[in-house]
Amino acid sequence: MNHEPLIQLFMDKPGEYVSGESISQELGVSRTAIWKQIRKLEGAGYHFEASRRLGYRLISVPEHLSTEDLAGRLEAKIFGKTVHLFETVESTQNLARAAAEDGAVEGTLFLAEQQVNGRGRMGRGWVSPRGKGVWMSMVLRPSVPIHFAPQLTLLTAVALCRSLKRVTALPIGIKWPNDLLIEGKKISGILLESAAEDERLRYVIAGIGISVNLEESDYPVELLEKATSLRIRSGKKWTREAVIADFLKEWEQLYFLYQEQGFSPIVTLWEALSVSLGKPARLITPQGDIVGVPIGLDESGAIRIELADGTIKPVFSAEMGEPL
Ligand code: BTN
Repeated sequence: MNHEPLIQLFMDKPGEYVSGESISQELGVSRTAIWKQIRKLEGAGYHFEASRRLGYRLISVPEHLSTEDLAGRLEAKIFGKTVHLFETVESTQNLARAAAEDGAVEGTLFLAEQQVNGRGRMGRGWVSPRGKGVWMSMVLRPSVPIHFAPQLTLLTAVALCRSLKRVTALPIGIKWPNDLLIEGKKISGILLESAAEDERLRYVIAGIGISVNLEESDYPVELLEKATSLRIRSGKKWTREAVIADFLKEWEQLYFLYQEQGFSPIVTLWEALSVSLGKPARLITPQGDIVGVPIGLDESGAIRIELADGTIKPVFSAEMGEPL
């Protein structure tokens, strides 16, 4: 049984109970077939209320991203010009990488409603439930040497932070290098994976996860004290297409600025949004922990740490521990 006529029937009677008997007559199918189809639809995110006496009532439909809606909002020139939207994927990173290997142009965007194997930094996973967030990966082809890749991560964090602050007016800040936090809890993550040849970047896959409309029940309990969403913090749901379109515009503008003027304007913007500067911190590196006060970024994208003896140490890559 195709579920479209059944959904249509409920959509035509918003908020009303429809008896199994009348559905059965209207669609010419058995009541068992209807019940099975409703169970299936519930699995796909539709919510029904069932009453023995009255039948079924459609309470809510799953939210789907719309590429048309996104295209209508898009002001970016290259970023998101081509969008591939998927229902369920392992990770959008894999799709974008395969496309980049096949020659996909800069700005080609992969979006998924759900990731079943979303990847985070440091080999961690990324919670990506259906219809609740922005899970996206984009192909970049910057003509810069490979050791500039961290700058792109910082640039992406700045763009995302500026955009989300503008759209939601929430107090969002950047924790070095690229986590976005609201009052100490993470709301988005950035994962850049690159391929290089002869010291030049062939392409970069920029993966962005934004926890937009997740509820507390969407997170594993152990993450609740560290992670949050725009919805939990603001008490309202956000239109994901609007979030994506605004971010792509901001991201592209900063990317063009970076290509014209280099990294120094990005340093200034990053420092203005940072919640890490001036606070004593422990940086966990494979070579051991470094304790000191982050005081700024240098031109390469390393964070400058002032040690207890007053010397300044640039740190390129580390995990930032809990505030000291
Ligand atoms: C982090 O650990 O902070 C980075 C998380 C990056 C998650 C995004 S979601 C879209 C893209 N696909 C993935 O598998 N990961 C990134």
